[in-house]
Amino acid sequence: MDTIVITGGSRGIGAATARECARRGLGVILTYKSQQQAAAKVVDAIRDDGGRAAALPLDVTDVASFAAFRDATQQALNALGGDLAGLVNNAGQGLFNPIETVTEAQFDILMNVHLKGPFFVTQALLPLMRDGASIVNLTSATTRVATKGVAPYAAFKGGLEVLTRYMAKEFGERRLRVNAVSPGPIRTDLGGGIAPDFESLLASQTALGRIGEPLEVARVIATLLTEDGGWINGQSIEVGGGYMI
Ligand SMILES: NC(=O)c1ccc[n+]([C@@H]2O[C@H](COP(=O)([O-])OP(=O)(O)OC[C@H]3O[C@@H](n4cnc5c(N)ncnc54)[C@H](OP(=O)(O)O)[C@@H]3O)[C@@H](O)[C@H]2O)c1
Repeated sequence: MDTIVITGGSRGIGAATARECARRGLGVILTYKSQQQAAAKVVDAIRDDGGRAAALPLDVTDVASFAAFRDATQQALNALGGDLAGLVNNAGQGLFNPIETVTEAQFDILMNVHLKGPFFVTQALLPLMRDGASIVNLTSATTRVATKGVAPYAAFKGGLEVLTRYMAKEFGERRLRVNAVSPGPIRTDLGGGIAPDFESLLASQTALGRIGEPLEVARVIATLLTEDGGWINGQSIEVGGGYMI
């Protein structure tokens, strides 16, 4: 029995990934930062469908808390059953602000959430992971398409994309696979959500003529976590319906 950890599983892509992974037979430990009730609803929905799930609090910017988070994860694994077979570094937040006016505090929070957090969350959970486990890091199509107003966010996602290859290289001895999933515009609350007129613009820039839904990203993440994606390693896979191609 395999169990995985998903950071930021209370909403959006993380919640959809939790549901999809459970549907494919994986146990799910999802984390939340502020939305405990939303996380509990995801857990309840998985259990109602006969799956295994638990929710734990985690702030991915609080590196000092990660040793305790590892202990809590071990306890959740004991309760759910199964080995730790995967980690999805999904937690994230957005910010629209041009380079001219980005503050140091905004820069630091984005760096901590999107680069430092995934680095040290992964380091903390490595001892619990079984050989052959799979790690998926959520990056962004903004690493490929320069988009005004999201420079620090995109730069740290770009760093996470590089880190993905380094993790794949260093963890290969344990047969761990590490990949990045890079969503195009997806309908979630990230950065306050996508306003209707902006959605129309993004849809017009997408070959399939619309923005994506969380489940469409979740299916790719779930594939990478299981044997269906067993020979994919060190890659960045854009999931964007043909955004700005
Ligand atoms: N939506 C898009 O168009 C898009 C495009 C490209 C990439 N992405 C990436 O995909 C990932 C998921 O985004 P989403 O759109 O699903 O976002 P979302 O709907 O806003 O959900 C964000 C999740 O991250 C959690 N979170 C936020 N800050 C956190 C922190 N400091 N520590 C721990 N958890 C934290 C939230 O927890 P609480 O709710 O409990 O506070 C929530 O579960 C992110 O990494 C994002 O950058 C999204």
